[in-house]
Amino acid sequence: MRLHTGKWLLLFLAVPAALANAALPVVRDALTDAATPAVSPWLRYLPSGVGLSQQSTGRLGKGQDPGIVFFRGSYYLVQAAGGTFLTVFRSSDLQTLMTDEQFHWELTKELVDNVEAPDIDIITDPTDGSQKLGIYISRVRPFPGFIKVVVTDDPAEGFEDKGYLKGVSGYDAHYLEHPNGNAYLFYSDFATLQIIQMSDPWTTQGSNVTISRATLPWEMEDGYPPINEAPATVISGETLNLIYSANNWASVYYLCGRLTADVNSDPMDPSSWTKDTSGPVFKSANGLLGPGSGTFFTNGLQRWWAYGCFTDPSRVERHIRAQTVSFNSNEEVVLGEPV
Ligand SMILES: *[C@@H]1O[C@H](CO)[C@@H](O)[C@H](O)[C@H]1NC(C)=O
Repeated sequence: MRLHTGKWLLLFLAVPAALANAALPVVRDALTDAATPAVSPWLRYLPSGVGLSQQSTGRLGKGQDPGIVFFRGSYYLVQAAGGTFLTVFRSSDLQTLMTDEQFHWELTKELVDNVEAPDIDIITDPTDGSQKLGIYISRVRPFPGFIKVVVTDDPAEGFEDKGYLKGVSGYDAHYLEHPNGNAYLFYSDFATLQIIQMSDPWTTQGSNVTISRATLPWEMEDGYPPINEAPATVISGETLNLIYSANNWASVYYLCGRLTADVNSDPMDPSSWTKDTSGPVFKSANGLLGPGSGTFFTNGLQRWWAYGCFTDPSRVERHIRAQTVSFNSNEEVVLGEPV
């Protein structure tokens, strides 16, 4: 979520009952990449990767709640920012992603200064089967908000407003085209992570189901109301990994936990999901504080995790960083430490 002033951090601390009407610290989410050779639907996500550097870390710039995707040879980024435009950043080089091309979509009136945590995902347009970019914009007032879908084939050519998703009350949306052939939207309603099936990238189908809530001591370390937010997924082998963020984004306790599900299980069944209860999988380290609200993407050579974090003890502004990830023998994603 965007860095608001300390004023409403105090409000947040003092008046948890007012959560329903306040613009809350919201965070953002992520993308699915794919590279599972045995699962054919994922092959279409594999970009060429030609000419890309082999670097393993990136300092992208000021910002938070990144959503990043690699699509047709370019990286695309959206992030939380106020104002009257949604900005889509594009570059063929990760290091220059926030300083190269920028495209602006003029926000509809109700979204002005009211956008948090947008995500960008590769979607399949049901009308012609082509791949496009879907931008899932969180509008957080009234809290926990609504999700608007904006589609683009090439941001230089324009954007199409597909409207708000029906039946979704939340923020931090993340759209996933699953190897089982269905599509799903993950999002947060602040206290819990939700999933809802999608009949196409801008149409929900049926009702949402809760797949996680904050219950563990390290998910509630800051003494704030329980938070599970910013779902981001990455598949490796037969394992669907979901990284989420817990605690308050403005605190040093903001961190990430991990859920996993077998790709052959039904993601709409809460019992398909297992939370790693042993502790956070990504947290403050190396002077980088409150890392979280991240996104997964692949450039065809490596799989990456990008996230926001504070880079100084006073926690004035956040920066977006990216680093490569690995997987353990259970195909669980290993994020390591923020660097
Ligand atoms: C669907 O979402 C709403 C709002 O977040 C929540 O109250 C409800 O419990 C969810 N439904 C299920 C079945 O979890």
